[in-house]
Amino acid sequence: MAGKKKLIIANWKMNPGKEKDALTLFVAVKEEAALRQNIQTVICPPFPFISVLKKNVSGRKCSIGAQNMHWEVNGAYTGEISSAMLLDYGIKYVLVGHSERRAFGETDEMVNKKLLAALRRGMSPVLLVGETERDSAGAFFNVVRDQITRAFEGAPRHLLKNIVLVYEPVWAISSHAALPCSPENILEMHIFIKKVLNDLLGSVAAGRLPILYGGSVNPENAGGIIAESGVTGFVVGNASLDTRKFARILEIADKMKPLAL
Ligand code: PGA
Repeated sequence: MAGKKKLIIANWKMNPGKEKDALTLFVAVKEEAALRQNIQTVICPPFPFISVLKKNVSGRKCSIGAQNMHWEVNGAYTGEISSAMLLDYGIKYVLVGHSERRAFGETDEMVNKKLLAALRRGMSPVLLVGETERDSAGAFFNVVRDQITRAFEGAPRHLLKNIVLVYEPVWAISSHAALPCSPENILEMHIFIKKVLNDLLGSVAAGRLPILYGGSVNPENAGGIIAESGVTGFVVGNASLDTRKFARILEIADKMKPLAL
């Protein structure tokens, strides 16, 4: 786990197109990450780049994560990647339940299987939850609660501490909108998620889980989100492909003190 450090996860999605560009981006980010005392940086590249980037990891501040994995260890699952393959590259963090995968038909049940598989294999699943849209009656809170409850079903208690939870409202992701969720709204959801986790796991286990935010994080809004919503890190998509912007997010997050909840 990232301990008291803030966790900043770069989700490169299906970018960049070429290995040499991935390597250039990774090396630049790695150098920036090495300067930051209070940050653990995780880069989640497309699978074909994992091998070459892994060879270029140096130090502990910047590691490689995965964007997805199947719950089975091996077998007839065309196009899938398993925990065994990721562990062969020493990968610890794996995104689970990203909305772009849910949009391809990934159900809560599949998310649950992935989360359990990652935990049982000693990995840290990064569980992403978030509503597609907000309604004035507040039904979106139920959406988030249900996603969390279903994902955690059957999770072994002693492994709960390895889970990272990310609130990522789908409507705030940069490919959908130009605006992130406001710090006030993130704070409100952060408090709600803590309550859901308390009810589900008890306060001790719930208190250990890092809660991050994702959705149009950029150098302009990163500081305010940490200071006003209490999240202890980010999942960054679009801005993680721009070295200058991502470096600035690391720099800002390194200095900011999250609101204590
Ligand atoms: P964004 O993506 O930072 O481009 O909004 C975040 C994500 O989808 O994980």
